Amino acid sequence: MTGGASAAETALAAATADHLPVLIEEVVDALSPAPGEVFLDGTFGAGGYTRALLDAADCTVIGLDRDPDALAEARVWAPLFRDRLRLVQGTFGAMESALEGQQALDGIVLDIGVSSMQLDRARRGFSFLRDGPLDMRMAQDGPTAADLVNDADEGALADIFFQYGEEKRSRALARAVIAARQSGAITTTGQLAAIIEEAAPRKRPGDMHPATRVFQSLRIAVNDELGELARGLASAERLLAEGGRLVVVTFHSLEDRVVKRFFQRRAQHGGAGVSRHVPNAPDAAAPSFEMITRKAVTAGEAELSRHPRARSARLRAGRRTAAPAHPPEMTGLGLPGLTLSGSFS
Ligand SMILES: C[S@@+](CC[C@H](N)C(=O)[O-])C[C@H]1O[C@@H](n2cnc3c(N)ncnc32)[C@H](O)[C@@H]1O
Repeated sequence: MTGGASAAETALAAATADHLPVLIEEVVDALSPAPGEVFLDGTFGAGGYTRALLDAADCTVIGLDRDPDALAEARVWAPLFRDRLRLVQGTFGAMESALEGQQALDGIVLDIGVSSMQLDRARRGFSFLRDGPLDMRMAQDGPTAADLVNDADEGALADIFFQYGEEKRSRALARAVIAARQSGAITTTGQLAAIIEEAAPRKRPGDMHPATRVFQSLRIAVNDELGELARGLASAERLLAEGGRLVVVTFHSLEDRVVKRFFQRRAQHGGAGVSRHVPNAPDAAAPSFEMITRKAVTAGEAELSRHPRARSARLRAGRRTAAPAHPPEMTGLGLPGLTLSGSFS
């Protein structure tokens, strides 16, 4: 390069402009990075949180994402941070195997959900506003949303819409999907959005798009997002050093409920279903976290005016104690009791 910015600097500037991280000051504040500390950004995305941590202290960050596109874009600018940034592809639900050999961490952040990069690209099939293949796979492997919509039976579809989308018209919408697919497979986001819109038209012009909840529910099912969250929280508990911080940002009530219950159960005596009356198991019931946030932190007015998506963001954070990790649990966290096996293959 003669003068001007290098390719890495140009890519870094583009990544910074591309995605506005939510609750960024609150995330850095809760993680309070110090020189020499090691952090896991378990939902790397466009790397907004990672860069904020790297800028805030002379620390190291491991950027983990299940989406190969997110990491491919970051590989262009990551060398600017030399050995302070390492990129790893994998899921945070399996963070221990993805980070094999890693010493205990000083902080872990999870920013749950879909990135603007994923939403804005029609070919990824996440958005009912952009016509593209009905895909929705963050990791770009395994069954797609089209497989689910075309293969699941009516009861299973209705359960997904209801449990993962909190969609009140779940049964009618499942029936509409089953009826529509009699005349050919549903393969695009546009087709599905039109089927839902016809079955449940907006009552008033300003109402939410009728397909919003259905799309959310399919995305959660395709990516097993709630299972990932429960496994990710339990893994984070095991990987954090004493004093290590866990910060989780969620965007809808199903996820926030899981995070809230996880911290409630870990920050009190006898949590995780282990009775403090069980003989010889006093340590297992000792609190493994103390809360950094007393209640969910939400965006202030200034952020909301720049960033409407921040409206539904909730941040909860805890600090790891010296107590052993509690036994992992899937019950007690408020996960919907939905199993897809059998009705969706
Ligand atoms: C909301 S974005 C994160 C944005 C990021 N905080 C930033 O500042 O750029 C969520 C990212 O997490 C990734 N993701 C979602 N679930 C994941 C999982 N279970 N394991 C790993 N990555 C996941 C998505 O692929 C997406 O890139």
